[in-house]
Amino acid sequence: MEPKLSPLFTKDEIAAAVSRLAAEIRRDYRDKNPLLIAVLKGSFVFLADLVRQLNLPLEIEFVRLSSYGKGTESSGRVRMAPGAPSQIKGRHVLVIEDIIDTGLTAAFLLDYLGRKKPASLKYCSLTDKKERRRVMVNIDYRGLTVPDKFIVGYGLDCDEKFRNLPDIYTLEQ
Ligand code: IMP
Ligand code: MG
Repeated sequence: MEPKLSPLFTKDEIAAAVSRLAAEIRRDYRDKNPLLIAVLKGSFVFLADLVRQLNLPLEIEFVRLSSYGKGTESSGRVRMAPGAPSQIKGRHVLVIEDIIDTGLTAAFLLDYLGRKKPASLKYCSLTDKKERRRVMVNIDYRGLTVPDKFIVGYGLDCDEKFRNLPDIYTLEQ
């Protein structure tokens, strides 16, 4: 069946959310030289827009995780791909995510990074699908709350498609 896309957030609404998050992060990390750790692949568009509004010294690393198989249902198991950043100790780490759904990815990553003794560890997610939460996680910087539907666009995919759309849509299959 053809997937049906329904508009959820326009690029202007997304840009406003990104600007607000950037202002909060600039305020909190002014003298901290943070290490941003972006979760691939979905966060790449958000990260690119966000960091260009952070006029402060920072570094960027990427991690690759997976909890999703094909399709729209979480497998419930989170794994770390090889090549995880090594210099975490003593750094002010800020994780950059596209979406928090069940919270399993965030919980895994906070535990994994926390063991490497960062000076501080916070979480930033562009979107939050609150209703689906299975584990409690603290989101320090939250962009847009989304309904319990599968969303695509602005980096978010379904089976690797739709990441390039400038707006965010819900997907009905
Ligand atoms: P969680 O571990 O269930 O919180 O899921 C986190 C990951 O699942 C996100 O980083 C996304 O890659 C993916 N994901 C969850 N919901 C959606 C969605 O609605 N659209 C696209 N990807 C999603
Ligand atoms: Mg993701």
